[in-house]
Amino acid sequence: MKPIRIALTKGRLEKNTVALFQKMGFDCQNLLNKGRKLILDIPNANLQVVLAKAADVITYVERGVCDMGVVGKDTILELGSQFYDVMDLGFGKCQFALAAPKNSPFYEGYTVKRIATKYPKIATEFFEKKGMDIEIIKIEGSVELAPLLGLSHAIVDIVETGTTLKENGLEVIEYIEPVSAHVIVNIASLKMRKGEIEPLLQKMEQAKGEL
Ligand code: PRP
Repeated sequence: MKPIRIALTKGRLEKNTVALFQKMGFDCQNLLNKGRKLILDIPNANLQVVLAKAADVITYVERGVCDMGVVGKDTILELGSQFYDVMDLGFGKCQFALAAPKNSPFYEGYTVKRIATKYPKIATEFFEKKGMDIEIIKIEGSVELAPLLGLSHAIVDIVETGTTLKENGLEVIEYIEPVSAHVIVNIASLKMRKGEIEPLLQKMEQAKGEL
């Protein structure tokens, strides 16, 4: 039978996801020695792992080329909608935050503030709730650079240890929302392959408590 295909986010969440799979009793040799291979079989389960960037995990699951995915809630909130968000895995914990250069009077003055972010939707919604008019500047990475270069007054980004902010003279003004790794499932797959996906989710639920 066709394997269940699961897309994993490369990088930050990869180590914990592999550890979770090991707890689930999966043979992760191929994953641990993957080299530059992007599609990897789990030999002792009818499972195929696809390694992708977070935003692409969402695309693959939404479009059904992958049945399931492991991806950060940050990417889900920014991009996702057409899938089931079925489980919080409890690792990859961080926070969405508004941050600015230390002691900068962010909420003072009448100029429209410029906000640099990889997450324009999250940032827009956050300031809409406040009724505050801002300008969003989309940045692709190392967002902390933007206020240092004078491009923006502040950033909306994820903060994990806080080290990047600290080492660059920035501080959190407000925490917005907690983030962690979630399991998502394609809508059709959950219907068509319920008999395989549900036991897998149960196993995952149990293993995540043992991590
Ligand atoms: C993330 C985030 C911050 C940093 C926060 O970036 O955008 O820059 O991690 O982590 P910390 O609070 O533990 O210092 P990432 O490393 O994913 O890379 P990027 O900036 O290139 O997106």
